[in-house]
Amino acid sequence: MTNRAPLPPEISRRRTFAIIAHPDAGKTTLTEKFLLFGGAIQMAGQVRAKGEARRTRSDFLKMEQDRGISVSASAMSFDFRQYRFNLVDTPGHSDFSEDTYRTLTAVDAAIMVIDGAKGVESQTRKLFEVCRLRDLPILTFCNKMDREARDTFEIIDEIQENLAIDVTPASWPIGSGRDFVGAYDLLHDRLEIMDRADRNKIAESIQISGVDDPKLAEHIPADLLQKFHEELEMARELLPAFDRAAFLNGSMTPIWFGSAINSFGVKELMDGIGEFGPEPEPQKAAERQVDPAEPEVTGFVFKVQANMDPKHRDRVAFVRLASGHFERGMKLFHVRSKKPMSITNPVLFLAADRELAEEAWAGDIIGIPNHGQLRIGDALTEGESLRFTGIPSFAPELLQTIRALDPMKAKHLEKALTQFAEEGAAKVFKPMIGSGYIVGVVGALQFDVLASRIELEYSLPVRFEGSNFVSARWISGDKAEIEKLVAVNKGHIAHDSDGDLVFLTRLQWDIDRVLRDYPGVKLTATKEMM
Ligand code: G4P
Repeated sequence: MTNRAPLPPEISRRRTFAIIAHPDAGKTTLTEKFLLFGGAIQMAGQVRAKGEARRTRSDFLKMEQDRGISVSASAMSFDFRQYRFNLVDTPGHSDFSEDTYRTLTAVDAAIMVIDGAKGVESQTRKLFEVCRLRDLPILTFCNKMDREARDTFEIIDEIQENLAIDVTPASWPIGSGRDFVGAYDLLHDRLEIMDRADRNKIAESIQISGVDDPKLAEHIPADLLQKFHEELEMARELLPAFDRAAFLNGSMTPIWFGSAINSFGVKELMDGIGEFGPEPEPQKAAERQVDPAEPEVTGFVFKVQANMDPKHRDRVAFVRLASGHFERGMKLFHVRSKKPMSITNPVLFLAADRELAEEAWAGDIIGIPNHGQLRIGDALTEGESLRFTGIPSFAPELLQTIRALDPMKAKHLEKALTQFAEEGAAKVFKPMIGSGYIVGVVGALQFDVLASRIELEYSLPVRFEGSNFVSARWISGDKAEIEKLVAVNKGHIAHDSDGDLVFLTRLQWDIDRVLRDYPGVKLTATKEMM
């Protein structure tokens, strides 16, 4: 990072990030306020379905149907001050860990939203661990400070202890619950006062000449002011100061205290992303590292979404541009098929609307409509054969056999399954013996989602049935030994949707047995998608 040449201004102003949160912490509300302050929507409340009901299963599926933004707009772009923000949506449900993982390969930073009354919750921790695998810089937003929250030190301690990361306060809350006044912006010496009357208004901001400025007393009741001074003194002694290098290498997170629903603290957080970055980071490929400042366009597909518009059977491949300046109409080289592709109708996602992308820069996410040529992990370049790494496919943890209720519709089923496999929504295996398909997922809810989507998008009712197998491993290694393994264990062998061989397992013992009997064979739980 430190030794790199400065990026061209158009690239250096890009901020590509995701929000991670436990359900209910306020991710949707925060997203909505980002879009509001980014000018991408006019009024908060456009982004999502209302109320608790939307989290029930039927509503979740309905959202898939309606293609509500919180489910399907995989990336949203908007401007804030001099910055261009690309917010990449992480799938909300805990089941979608693989999808989430891949989403996080496309971003340079993450915002972790926690609920001030609940602290670090299970899903926060899981998502955080995924970020840590990539050393992603993390900004923390402690939400719902308008309600009774935990003690500030307790919240910070919990993050430090639980997630093993240094926490440095970027703001300090004053009061809590009904007495919540606002927060002191420690980075800019400003007092931000929360306005409960207008939830979409940016908070009043008062420039202060330091924490001892008598002006504070005009806005803060005496008891709260005294507590604030005491806490701040303690914070200075106990907590580390902001260190940009530590932030960028993922070992320190700045924390802001706010209330998304009251638009409070949101602007400061956005300023933080702008000021601290990171700028678009280099991306790793098997051959070399790709720097965003390189003039030639390169990018990789991290997500494929089909049927975004139910009227058209289109698929959109989401591409993170790793380098260069892309212009509409460019001919790019599709590395896997070794064929050129004219990118005539790329899209940028601006809140609920799609827009044609006339140009895009390294760091941006563009959607490329296509008929199935583009798959997760694919690289696009201006001619170089690059394979971007770090976009794994994980072995499923649950396997079931799928059947069309109408046996005459087997061909349709095959088509639907191919689509979902390409989207990365499921693993589809064709066993060597017998007819039919085995579908593998990471979380049980995905079976329901798949069944519902196949019925909806292909008018094809299906049923999932138990399978003898519980997991699958990709087979590689010595060719002769693989042939022997396959010949003797046909009942365990299947092909995945790329035609690669897999070994279906019932127990760990199956794996141990293969490894013992066929020492030249490797069984792996992940496969690089390239
Ligand atoms: P999620 O996407 O992380 O699941 O959270 P979401 O934004 O949907 O927020 C979950 C609930 O918390 C919502 O209430 C939302 O209004 C509320 N919320 C978000 N930010 C704040 C905040 O700063 N303070 C308070 N007090 N509440 C907040 P809900 O009742 O589930 O939905 P709704 O009926 O308000 O739409």
